[in-house]
Amino acid sequence: MTWKSVPKTELHLHLEGAAPPEFIRMIAAEKGTDLSRIFHADGSYKWKDFAEFLKIYEAACSVLKTPDDYRRLLEAVLEVSADNGVVYTEIFLAPDFCGGGDLDAWKDYLAAFEIGADNAKAKHGIEARFISTCVRHFGPEKAIHTANITANAPSPRMVGFGMGGEERDFTAQDFVSAFAVAAEAGLGITSHAGEICGADSVRETLDHLPVSRIGHGVRAVEDPELVKRLAEEEILLEVNPGSNVCIGVFPSWEKHPLDHLRQQGVPVCVSTDDPPYFHITMTSDYENIAKTWGWSETDFADTNRTAMKYAFCDEETRAAVLAKFQ
Ligand code: ADE
Ligand code: ZN
Repeated sequence: MTWKSVPKTELHLHLEGAAPPEFIRMIAAEKGTDLSRIFHADGSYKWKDFAEFLKIYEAACSVLKTPDDYRRLLEAVLEVSADNGVVYTEIFLAPDFCGGGDLDAWKDYLAAFEIGADNAKAKHGIEARFISTCVRHFGPEKAIHTANITANAPSPRMVGFGMGGEERDFTAQDFVSAFAVAAEAGLGITSHAGEICGADSVRETLDHLPVSRIGHGVRAVEDPELVKRLAEEEILLEVNPGSNVCIGVFPSWEKHPLDHLRQQGVPVCVSTDDPPYFHITMTSDYENIAKTWGWSETDFADTNRTAMKYAFCDEETRAAVLAKFQ
């Protein structure tokens, strides 16, 4: 059985985190920037813990300077996704990295992203949507600004607002205003929680932010009452098992709670987060899930239907993609 060609959805993928290292080296060479310190001799990204991962991630994207650099990145990323069977993907974009928080600059980047996604759709058939993302460790004021520029630059594929970054910095409550702006603009809402921090972080996010989905959320497993709440309130967890195992959130695939959470009735889907950083692909994650818990094609189709139920796209797109998982 090869899982590569099986159709897949992915709702949790950071554009910069999905950058193939060879793509970043190519752009660095074009700009005459020496970035060799962020790569191992074998060409892979060099980091040893979550804090260093975030630093290397920001260093890698510092060479991307123009809307066209980012368009090329998006096309490179969508090509890899499509090659791994992904038919629908939601990609986190960060206005902080694209134009430094300037509204007019962000509009130019968005126009380039739309062209990149059009090109990828024409070439590979992949359907992409965008989630604008604030960076938690940049603080609540920047997050409000990011939400404002997102709300003021509508774009056909921009469907959501989220938050990534250092989970140990600030609390969910600190970001209430930013998320209110995004929700008011009609964007779908998700936030990272319960990845680096435990169940309290997930609970706080549910209590204070208008989320229908949580990025990761897997450490909710530490509190059975919270797991019940996630099932009852039907909150989708965007689970990234290969990412979690690589970062060390769980020590092995066997100890990862994806299958347990699903059995407890929590809506779950599968994504890769920052695949080249973690030496994974959607295909390798499907292989590991099938090997660890015996998931069949029916289980994956069921999970993909769940993902599409929570996708932030329009109803016509949802129905068209869902038809691929019947
Ligand atoms: N940004 C990119 N990848 C991330 C992750 N795994 N957790 C939090 N923020 C991120
Ligand atoms: Zn993430």
